[in-house]
Amino acid sequence: MPVSETTPEVQTERIVIVGGSSGIGLALAELMLAEGAEVTIAGRSPERLAAAERELTRQEGSTADRLRAVTADITREEDIERLFKTIGPVDHVVTTAADVTGAYQPIVSFNVRIGQDLIDAKLVGAMLLAKHAVIAPTGSLTFTSGIAAYRPAPGGSMVAAVNGALASLASALAIEMAPVRVNVASPGWVDTPIWDNIAGDEKTARLEAMAKRLPAGRVGDPDDIAQALLALIRNHFITGTVLHVDGGQRLV
Ligand SMILES: NC(=O)c1ccc[n+]([C@@H]2O[C@H](COP(=O)([O-])OP(=O)(O)OC[C@H]3O[C@@H](n4cnc5c(N)ncnc54)[C@H](OP(=O)(O)O)[C@@H]3O)[C@@H](O)[C@H]2O)c1
Repeated sequence: MPVSETTPEVQTERIVIVGGSSGIGLALAELMLAEGAEVTIAGRSPERLAAAERELTRQEGSTADRLRAVTADITREEDIERLFKTIGPVDHVVTTAADVTGAYQPIVSFNVRIGQDLIDAKLVGAMLLAKHAVIAPTGSLTFTSGIAAYRPAPGGSMVAAVNGALASLASALAIEMAPVRVNVASPGWVDTPIWDNIAGDEKTARLEAMAKRLPAGRVGDPDDIAQALLALIRNHFITGTVLHVDGGQRLV
């Protein structure tokens, strides 16, 4: 068939991943680059972003021309505003950003300020993305919650509350932002650097013990969650939904 003048130009898909310098976000960045997308990763630490850029461009057939890193703290509205002013309209926005340092605490000695940090990063940050991102009508906005909302443990009330709230936020925004689709991926335990903060020296032992309990027989790999995020991005009939990617952890 001859190429007609009216043949629409195929545009490169554009995605922003806040939290793309580590763990699940980094795995998604790698996956989206392999899919041919233009990828912007954002996070607070320029050093972590630079290390991620090195890792993502280390292979032959470098993807450097489709990768950009922007230093931004999702808890700071001016950062998020600047991020989207810098990169312009996008097709997809995903956040995996969270810093759980000190977030697990018994309610009797609950430190409100530390709890507030997690609310700001996961919940208010998600709302700031919804406010400032310019997303194509065919595009999507995806948040990352977590198993703590569905299988809570003592000391995890704040983490449970914040993750649980993301489901309601996504439902509400799926109505308000339509036709842009808004969803949540809820990981189970996944072997990423976040566990250095949560468990310290006990990281390996705790992940191994969980692997034995899970129907899946192992804990998650960051790519397991990245593939689920990709499914939410790609399936145009999914909106206002929480996709559980937990190896069956809600069942045990
Ligand atoms: N791994 C698990 O077992 C697990 C289980 C359930 C849920 N989750 C959820 O999955 C998400 C990703 O976790 P992960 O395991 O991939 O964690 P990770 O390896 O620690 O990565 C977190 C990323 O978020 C960024 N970040 C943290 N605070 C930020 C902020 N205020 N503004 C911008 N970026 C920020 C970090 O970079 P900087 O520090 O440089 O900002 C880093 O890139 C989190 O929401 C987590 O709660 C994880």
